[in-house]
Amino acid sequence: MAKNKRHKYERVKHLPNVAFSVFGQPGAFCTYPWHQERYKGLEIILELGCGKGEASLALAAANPFKLHVGIDYKSHRICVGAEKALEQGLENLFFLRARIERIREFFSEQSIHEIWLTFPDPHLKHREIKSRLSAAPFLDLYAKLLVPKGMVHLKTDNDLFFRFTGDCVKNWGGRVVETQENIHRGDGSGSVGSDSVSCFENKALSKGLTIKYMAFTLN
Ligand SMILES: C[S@@+](CC[C@H](N)C(=O)[O-])C[C@H]1O[C@@H](n2cnc3c(N)ncnc32)[C@H](O)[C@@H]1O
Repeated sequence: MAKNKRHKYERVKHLPNVAFSVFGQPGAFCTYPWHQERYKGLEIILELGCGKGEASLALAAANPFKLHVGIDYKSHRICVGAEKALEQGLENLFFLRARIERIREFFSEQSIHEIWLTFPDPHLKHREIKSRLSAAPFLDLYAKLLVPKGMVHLKTDNDLFFRFTGDCVKNWGGRVVETQENIHRGDGSGSVGSDSVSCFENKALSKGLTIKYMAFTLN
């Protein structure tokens, strides 16, 4: 393993704004920071598969009275976002190292106002379809966590994933509220999600790909 990555694996363990999954311990649910009394009443926004957390950093800075949690299972990526959040003094942003499949173990039902899926892995092979973060079993999870009319936002450069998500949402019984085929068209001003550019978004833009956006509800 690269030295830089190894250092991040070590550093992330000591960051006060990073939570790690604790399973099989009674009461573990309440130990996650977003359940603290001082955050009671704040809207909670999740970014699933946050990587280095660029979207969460931008959202947390723009919405100081909302609580943001970036979730990813790669702790060296989370480390980058969490260190930036500390540098920027963002007290309303946490990171959680966990698998999205287990997300219900960390948050109460109907407690999440928005979910962001930022450049999810498209999992192009047929046998991987079930791993796509907008496949029906994931929509089931999100529907349990979201408050009524809570919104899911998707940003992706992948046409197949974009169409797949639209179909999945409709087949599931959800509602696609908005789609944009190219959020950076023109000056991008006013386009949802165009004000932060993540690591994977940058890579896509440098290849000349367009960035698509979809918003949908599940309840
Ligand atoms: C293509 S990257 C995008 C990262 C970031 N959102 C961006 O735009 O730069 C997908 C991220 O999702 C994470 N991921 C994929 N499947 C996951 C899962 N089941 N649970 C947790 N994280 C997952 C990966 O570790 C990776 O960091």
